[in-house]
Amino acid sequence: MMPESPSHAELRLCKRLQLSDASAASLIAAMRAGASSRQAVVLTPLAPQDYVPPFACVDTTAWGWLPPAVFVPVEGEKPTAHADYREKGYYYSLDLSSCWESAALAVVPQPGSSLDMCAAPGGKTMLMAARHLPQHHVANEVSPSRRGILRQNLEHCGVPNTEVTGLRPDQWGAAGQVFDLLLVDAPCSGQSLLAKGIRNPGCLGASMVNGNAKRQKGILLAAVRCVAPGGHLLYTTCTYDPDENEKVIAYILKRMPSWRAVEVPELAPFRSALVDFPAYRLLPEHGFGAGGFCCLLKNT
Ligand SMILES: C[S@@+](CC[C@H](N)C(=O)[O-])C[C@H]1O[C@@H](n2cnc3c(N)ncnc32)[C@H](O)[C@@H]1O
Repeated sequence: MMPESPSHAELRLCKRLQLSDASAASLIAAMRAGASSRQAVVLTPLAPQDYVPPFACVDTTAWGWLPPAVFVPVEGEKPTAHADYREKGYYYSLDLSSCWESAALAVVPQPGSSLDMCAAPGGKTMLMAARHLPQHHVANEVSPSRRGILRQNLEHCGVPNTEVTGLRPDQWGAAGQVFDLLLVDAPCSGQSLLAKGIRNPGCLGASMVNGNAKRQKGILLAAVRCVAPGGHLLYTTCTYDPDENEKVIAYILKRMPSWRAVEVPELAPFRSALVDFPAYRLLPEHGFGAGGFCCLLKNT
């Protein structure tokens, strides 16, 4: 049932997402309830072979998209309370939606080199390390304080072959260095924070969304210059607005004729109906956390 008096901004978002009445009501209710957060953990390179976390986990065998080495605690479990997490660094705790966003890496061949351009606090790098550990990985973060946390997390979890850097995307674009795989987990308006119960004033407003869309286009224009021919770029956000998601990708595809969006069979149930290229969106109604967006691009 539609919550009472949806705001103009909530209705505007649902209209732009072309949601059915039922899905619109579900999204608005989720943003208001703030109870859609779902925790997950990913095993780190320090975890012993055949390691099983010391807490009860959900049966995820039917979740075809779930990345390897990811476990989902049953409600009430506290994975971060265990010594295996705090002292041994056997697993890293993150949001289930963040794991979903990395699912597209299933169709990327093992990269020799990779760059996580917006890496702190390190979740996407950990997810990538659990799937494909490249010979050389760069975890880059522009914010000095967040870079410190990133470095600590990577060290604590024993992620090898990884260099931590702090260049801006335009500096990377001008550096002339190319990688087989780029991760761009872009700064965004963070609308899904509402569905996690985290206050995020203004995140549904046009000025916040437009400002982020402009920044995301700039980051991606620089990022595509860092991808080797035949290489891939995974673009992800934790926001719902099409202007920061499908429209950013459409902008890049229009300007970069050698790039195309790649189909990810594992994510077929999440395919965005807003565009004719493969892009994927998660909403709270799917039941895998507060939501997100991902699109895998290939430099053909
Ligand atoms: C969504 S967070 C990254 C989360 C991280 N990938 C993870 O999974 O743990 C986006 C990051 O982009 C950084 N950032 C902010 N503005 C940026 C910019 N203009 N260019 C590149 N990165 C930026 C933020 O400091 C933030 O750490």
